[in-house]
Amino acid sequence: MTDYDALAARIRALTEGETDEVALMATLACEIHQSDDRFDWTGFYRVVAPELLKIGPYQGGHGCLVIPFSRGVCGAAARTGQVQLVPDVDAFPGHIACASSTRSEIVLPFWGKDGRLIGVLDIDSDQPDAFTDEDAARLAAILEEVFAHV
Ligand code: SME
Repeated sequence: MTDYDALAARIRALTEGETDEVALMATLACEIHQSDDRFDWTGFYRVVAPELLKIGPYQGGHGCLVIPFSRGVCGAAARTGQVQLVPDVDAFPGHIACASSTRSEIVLPFWGKDGRLIGVLDIDSDQPDAFTDEDAARLAAILEEVFAHV
């Protein structure tokens, strides 16, 4: 299990005073990815136009470049504003498989100041049912702390 206290402290130290979204995403993708062996793909999709996500900084194999809000787990998170905690990606209607090895996934939307949806954080695991409510809560808290003032 991830040591979220240590991860949050490391991210806080590395991102202090930074407001550039790409730099923040790159740092979080790196640190989150390396924090837990469950995380086989860790990255961001950014809102680049109404109802459209485009890939941002990530760690792991190649990810698809563009996702409309109408598709996939990432689109569902962006569309609903709700965390998507998917224990079995094969059971999620419209799941977009960037890697055939992916078994479970968590996707969290996040916002900047003025309530602007910046994008989603997507983490894939090759392990089934890999993510928990604690992952969702702790990752959401990290995203809020880093991006709420951006
Ligand atoms: N699985 C995501 C697509 C992104 S790849 O996993 C990196 C989805 O269904 O939206």
